[in-house]
Amino acid sequence: MTTITQLYPPPVQELALHGLYLSHDLRQAAAELNRPLVYTNFVSSLDGRIALPGPTESGMVAPKQVTNSRDWRLFQELAVQADVVISSGRYLRDYAGGHTQEILQVYDDPQFADLARWRVQQGLSPQPDIAVISASLDFPIPAALLTGGRRVLIFTTEQADRGRVRQLEKSAGQVIAVGQASVAGDRLVQALAGLGYQVIYSAAGPKVLHLLLAAGVLDRLYLTLANRLLGGQPYASFVEGPLLTPPVDMHLHTACFDAAGLDGLGQLFLSYRRAA
Ligand SMILES: NC(=O)c1ccc[n+]([C@@H]2O[C@H](COP(=O)([O-])OP(=O)(O)OC[C@H]3O[C@@H](n4cnc5c(N)ncnc54)[C@H](OP(=O)(O)O)[C@@H]3O)[C@@H](O)[C@H]2O)c1
Repeated sequence: MTTITQLYPPPVQELALHGLYLSHDLRQAAAELNRPLVYTNFVSSLDGRIALPGPTESGMVAPKQVTNSRDWRLFQELAVQADVVISSGRYLRDYAGGHTQEILQVYDDPQFADLARWRVQQGLSPQPDIAVISASLDFPIPAALLTGGRRVLIFTTEQADRGRVRQLEKSAGQVIAVGQASVAGDRLVQALAGLGYQVIYSAAGPKVLHLLLAAGVLDRLYLTLANRLLGGQPYASFVEGPLLTPPVDMHLHTACFDAAGLDGLGQLFLSYRRAA
């Protein structure tokens, strides 16, 4: 089945899966804000698991029980609209070990050829640039990032190792300190805005989401909720860090039911926007 059911906003209606998140027109939304639009996306089990223990250095991987091709299509539709995609030092370490899903070179996959064309039609570069968040700077830069004219930016802290900063600047791209001991979300987004980025997609995980939320710079949350409970230890949710004070309030933006997802088990495609 190639359709999903939009439950919110009314009226309830059948929509095509392909194009669902392209229709959110995040580039237009950023233009209307007149400042950068920052958004992220997670796929989660009903009990809130976004990662389970796996064979990676970080010890955790996105659960194969909930990741699926229909959610992956929507991940690409979000990524294709971005000026820059945020990733993490942890992701590049796992990437080097071959243990993680490809998020750096997505539109080379023939199944996403229509998205590659969409990007060209918008007059955008073939792939968004990449911003890596890392305190340790302990990761290799994959060759794929150094070809194709993409810009690589690395955001770190004032405490980062000077020698490693120089190495990365020579081999990969600009290294920018945006925090004393920890990357600060507001300084990160200001720096990206200063470099001309307006549509900013965080494809990183729960710690990066926390720093964006704590700084009040996350505008949209996209959440796929698979109709499946997993349990398991340790518990990995999509926000990780100290209590958010005040809490971050969100409005439901859209809700769609994907009855065909997960081989007919079903899943919800939810999107939220930050309350003013
Ligand atoms: N199910 C899903 O939709 C989904 C989505 C994303 C991720 N995940 C899972 O979540 C887990 C973690 O993902 P992730 O590592 O990409 O994301 P993350 O937990 O947000 O980021 C971790 C890395 O980012 C850097 N970092 C985070 N906060 C920082 C700060 N305040 N200052 C400086 N550096 C900071 C650190 O890099 P250094 O260690 O290099 O300093 C850290 O190792 C993985 O298992 C992944 O599979 C699941």
